[in-house]
Amino acid sequence: MEEAFMQRTVTCGALRAADEGKTVVLNGWVHRNRDHGALHFINLRDRYGITQVVVDDDAAKDLEETASSLKLEYCIAVKGIVRKRPDEMINPDMETGEIEVKAEKIDVLSPCAVLPFMIEDENSAREDLRLKYRFLDLRCKGMQDRIRLRHEIVKAIREYFYKTDFYEIETPTLIKSTPEGARDFLVPSRIYPGKFFALPQSPQLYKQILMVSGFDKYFQIARCYRDEDPRGDRQLEFTQLDVEMSFVKRDDVLALMEDLFNEVFKKVLDVDLPAHFRRITYHDAMNTYGCDKPDLRFGLEMHDASSFAARSTFKAFTETLEAGGSVKYLVAPKTEGHDYTRKYLSELESAAKIYGAHGLAWMKVENGTISGGVSKFFAGLEKDVLAETGAKDGDVILLVAHQDWKKCCNSLGAVRSRLGSDLGLIGKGYEFCWIIDFPLIEYNEEEGHWEAAHHMFSMPQAEYIENMEKDPGVVKGDLYDLVLNGYELASGSIRIHDIELQKRVFRICNYPDDVAQERFGFLLDCFKYGAPPHGGIAPGIDRLCMIVANQASIKEVIAFPKNTAAMSPMDDCPAAVEQKQLDELHLSIVEKEDRK
Ligand code: AMO
Repeated sequence: MEEAFMQRTVTCGALRAADEGKTVVLNGWVHRNRDHGALHFINLRDRYGITQVVVDDDAAKDLEETASSLKLEYCIAVKGIVRKRPDEMINPDMETGEIEVKAEKIDVLSPCAVLPFMIEDENSAREDLRLKYRFLDLRCKGMQDRIRLRHEIVKAIREYFYKTDFYEIETPTLIKSTPEGARDFLVPSRIYPGKFFALPQSPQLYKQILMVSGFDKYFQIARCYRDEDPRGDRQLEFTQLDVEMSFVKRDDVLALMEDLFNEVFKKVLDVDLPAHFRRITYHDAMNTYGCDKPDLRFGLEMHDASSFAARSTFKAFTETLEAGGSVKYLVAPKTEGHDYTRKYLSELESAAKIYGAHGLAWMKVENGTISGGVSKFFAGLEKDVLAETGAKDGDVILLVAHQDWKKCCNSLGAVRSRLGSDLGLIGKGYEFCWIIDFPLIEYNEEEGHWEAAHHMFSMPQAEYIENMEKDPGVVKGDLYDLVLNGYELASGSIRIHDIELQKRVFRICNYPDDVAQERFGFLLDCFKYGAPPHGGIAPGIDRLCMIVANQASIKEVIAFPKNTAAMSPMDDCPAAVEQKQLDELHLSIVEKEDRK
């Protein structure tokens, strides 16, 4: 039989002044241990809080010896009596700060080895050390709070869907490889040599099939897997709130999400969101903010510069415009304590160049006129430039010209983002918006063919269907993204439910009928049997928690994430497997140097 241990009667966050005189047992970890000679103060911690345990200087010898032997993070049991702290010892920063527990007995349940880092509120150890000892990192208050926040968010989401008549349905995680934008993770089949399952990039096709099966309101907190490079807001495996509905139009899906996020933010954060979120077309978002996931916590809008740029003598502008390209500008505002030095302007230029800009042109506004940079090309147009841009003394006008409208927008958009954070313009709070009317299909220049901008199952907007094949690039889809504070939080669409239309989109996206049938035949077959009109959306749970927890990386809201090198330092995976396992799977490994 297992040895009995002194089991807790209360948690370390529970005791208050009203509990004075009670005999209690606490279980927890030694958070701090201070001794003043024979007098010991032990801060005992568990998930619920910290309680101060005191071993008085008149304590029995064995109790004093145990107290002296305690090291940080020992797991212990303490039996003692609750007593009020003297007034001058009350700690208003601790929930249990009015009391302490006078220890009568302490048992070490489990000692702790030398710690690789201190268990503090926020762990400042380097990331790989944190991830190697994730079990300790998770003990830090910051991680404990974020894991609780995540739990509360997921709970509030589930509560919302249960009461609004949705079914929670699980879908498989061993599926057929069906490309959805990213690279699939593959799982070799032991029973069928040379055949593979894939891990789902999302439950997309299953949720659509569930609609054909009549489950008209579905949701799932779903694990998704994508073999791509992890970065700030991306992981190899992540979690989506996956939603699909039948007999709905776009606005029904948007209204559902607005209602959901209103409820979740109120319940979890006591934050009131607007009943409806702003809607911005993809085109306007690109034109005004230079990206399709604008951070609306600050303005700094971009504008078309052609009215004055076309009259300048700057060839980079005039020739770009003559050739049908774009010239855009934004006004970087005069900001206390911030100088637009050449060095800083060249940093902004580097940010723009990442997105394809050839350069970042600038003009300063001083003494009521423009000077420096490209201002000499605007001789005689100074007043017009100032009137058009509204720029004032101390401001800087920043301009990008590019033949390609999207590259022009993206490049200046990168400058906007950089200025937003450097100038401290980003306000507090939550700015949601919908981006609608996305292009359905984009040209993949590297591979030389058209492909779906979102995924191939999204409905083209009605007016484009007839002539879709003529110019796929102009077709808009019934697509929508939900953006929060500059992050793409969710994507969704109304889906195609007509076989012929689905085949046409496949063909445009380089999947001729035979290939499409081989890959997606099960979906096409299913559509033969009374497919209802349907649509849905999938918000990323990790991203949502990351934003709400005010973190820059989703790793901070995931218990066991992979590191930036796409591996887990704690359990050291991915890892080699035994030859026997490979043999069973009919696999042989080609060493790197043997590869072409
Ligand atoms: P999409 O691929 O846009 O759409 O993904 C939806 C949302 O999932 C989150 N997300 C990620 N989070 C962390 N790490 C990643 N690697 C990652 N990739 C995506 C984002 C994103 O907005 N089946 C469609 C949805 C639909 O049409 O209903 C889909 O998966 O928050």
